[in-house]
Amino acid sequence: MTQHFIVIGNPINHSKSPKIHQTFAAQTDIDIRYQRQYCPDNEASFVAVVEAFFYGGGVGANVTVPFKQIAFSHCQTQGGLSEHARVAGAVNTLLIKDGAVYGDNTDGQGLVNHIISLGWPLDGARVAIIGAGGAARGVVLPLIEAGIASLTIANRTLSKAQTLVTELSAASQTIERQAIATCTTAELTGEFDLIINATSIGLTGDTLPIADSLNTHYAYDMMYGRALPFLQHFTRRGAQVSDGYGMLINQAALSFERWTGRAVEVAAATIDLQSPLT
Ligand code: ATR
Repeated sequence: MTQHFIVIGNPINHSKSPKIHQTFAAQTDIDIRYQRQYCPDNEASFVAVVEAFFYGGGVGANVTVPFKQIAFSHCQTQGGLSEHARVAGAVNTLLIKDGAVYGDNTDGQGLVNHIISLGWPLDGARVAIIGAGGAARGVVLPLIEAGIASLTIANRTLSKAQTLVTELSAASQTIERQAIATCTTAELTGEFDLIINATSIGLTGDTLPIADSLNTHYAYDMMYGRALPFLQHFTRRGAQVSDGYGMLINQAALSFERWTGRAVEVAAATIDLQSPLT
């Protein structure tokens, strides 16, 4: 029997999720139909779409911009949340559990799994995240669970980094136990093993103020599909770099596994997906 899935967003036309999940379905021999679902940008419409989909027998939904926080609130009041979704304050994966809508967030673990697949060491790593918005919030707990030694959060607006650390520490004892430093992006200096760009700067054409005395072995940009000055800078400095395309594939793989109970081979899917994507 065909299992139905959707990705809910606005805009949604360019989502790569249907293609990615079809690849996983072919790999696991599961019959799926995965569609893009446009939704007007308001909470009532989002809830109506979700309820109609699951009442109609849908198995799972992905949630993307601008609905991840609305999905979180809906699951918090009407159903349940995974630990990663609760701490992230955002949901990217919906399913039905014990008769109610349940929200998970696989974005941060997708990033961690991609970094591990690149062979970059996380256990004992000195890590800096640049950015203190939703993207940064979602990766902190999975990074700490992966065994990093230290974490610094740098942001253009220092107070937002400080507020983020206070909120995350209150939300999770695992995070509370990890001392997290904060500074402005321009003040971020010294030696790191890994620096992650979690700002939305790639969308604006601006460049980050990166100190000359800032060094890292590995640099990761959560954006993909465009020239990324952050990665170009650290490539010139001799670091290994990656954009966030592998994070996209890995978060999808985790969603697929939550829904179907079947593990997928992410490396094979990444190769399959290279050419057909637009
Ligand atoms: P997202 O959900 O993608 O994280 P967000 O919550 O709006 O989006 O957060 C955007 C992040 O990118 C913030 O850390 C923001 O810095 P501020 O908190 O100082 O606004 C950062 N950012 C966006 N544009 C930037 C720019 N031109 N220079 C530096 N940082 C920028």
